[in-house]
Amino acid sequence: MIKTFKLTKKFGELTAVDALDLEIKEGEIFALLGPNGAGKTTTISMLCGLLEPTNGTATVNEFDVKKQALEVRQSIGIVFQSPSIDDLLTARENLELHGILYGMNKADRTKRIPEVLEIVGLLDRADGQIKTYSGGMRKRAEIARGLMHMPKVLFLDEPTTGLDPQTRTHIWSYIRDLSKKNHITVLLTTHYMEEAEYLADRIGIIDHGKLIALGTPYDLKQSLGANDIIVAKSDKDIAKLTKGLKFVKGIERDGELVKIKVENAGKNLCQLLVKTGELGEIEVRKPTLNDVFIHYTGKDIREDSAEGGIFERSMNSNNR
Ligand SMILES: Nc1ncnc2c1ncn2[C@@H]1O[C@H](COP(=O)(O)OP(=O)(O)OP(=O)(O)O)[C@@H](O)[C@H]1O
Ligand SMILES: [Mg+2]
Repeated sequence: MIKTFKLTKKFGELTAVDALDLEIKEGEIFALLGPNGAGKTTTISMLCGLLEPTNGTATVNEFDVKKQALEVRQSIGIVFQSPSIDDLLTARENLELHGILYGMNKADRTKRIPEVLEIVGLLDRADGQIKTYSGGMRKRAEIARGLMHMPKVLFLDEPTTGLDPQTRTHIWSYIRDLSKKNHITVLLTTHYMEEAEYLADRIGIIDHGKLIALGTPYDLKQSLGANDIIVAKSDKDIAKLTKGLKFVKGIERDGELVKIKVENAGKNLCQLLVKTGELGEIEVRKPTLNDVFIHYTGKDIREDSAEGGIFERSMNSNNR
């Protein structure tokens, strides 16, 4: 449903999106993760026909974003990162306007408006001006607008940023239901790992405009190469102390906290403790998407500095 071919966007000297190759299937929910400035919004803007690629191209619903921008726009719904709904209009009026702009006839609009309002739980507030809505209600109104013309592909750029946990979970279930019941392909960006974990069939991590990891949440966690993580407090040189222990797959340090990636913590913990001496406040847990994210976009890569990031760098290079 979405294919990119060496999709590239440059702003002067800066390459915001760098030869991106991506393929997203019909009905799939795909999450694009990446630090601030990684190129997520720029990618979406090119896929929506709002920005012209510098090089490469992409197709959405089999339409070329460069040559068939109108058909692309008719196939997609978009919820922007920054609010773009008209404050002075009511939700119903915003939807009516959107329907008209998309060439929907009166009968279709009249049928569709209550449907989408129902989906986002705003039917009872449909005639209130958007400026009287809470942040979460606004976001839901924006999602309703994105759905209005029954798009085949929905782009959601940080759909739940700034929302309370309840609203966020509600929105997640709308998005999941929507996509699964109506076969809508969803490309979303988020900084919330639990959002990606809950929603995404597959995840792509980008940094500096390049795709650096791709897979299901399960695959990505597997790619860390360890099935347990021991988090502990220690100021010792754990890398040195655990040298030769084959079940230790990597070490990351964040101040006094040390994250030790291990195979089968249950079986190997005693050996580790004997080798390292005392480790304070031990917690053993399974790898999370957050670990995956830090692993691939770790701060030593971000800041191009060796300080504090030696372990991460060696782990990154092992896994790429
Ligand atoms: N119109 C523009 N002109 C110049 N530079 C731009 C423009 N739009 C984006 N950029 C730059 O391109 C890079 C990628 O920006 P983009 O908005 O795609 O990042 P993002 O991954 O969406 O980040 P965030 O998580 O903060 O939303 C950034 O360095 C940004 O400053
Ligand atoms: Mg963005």
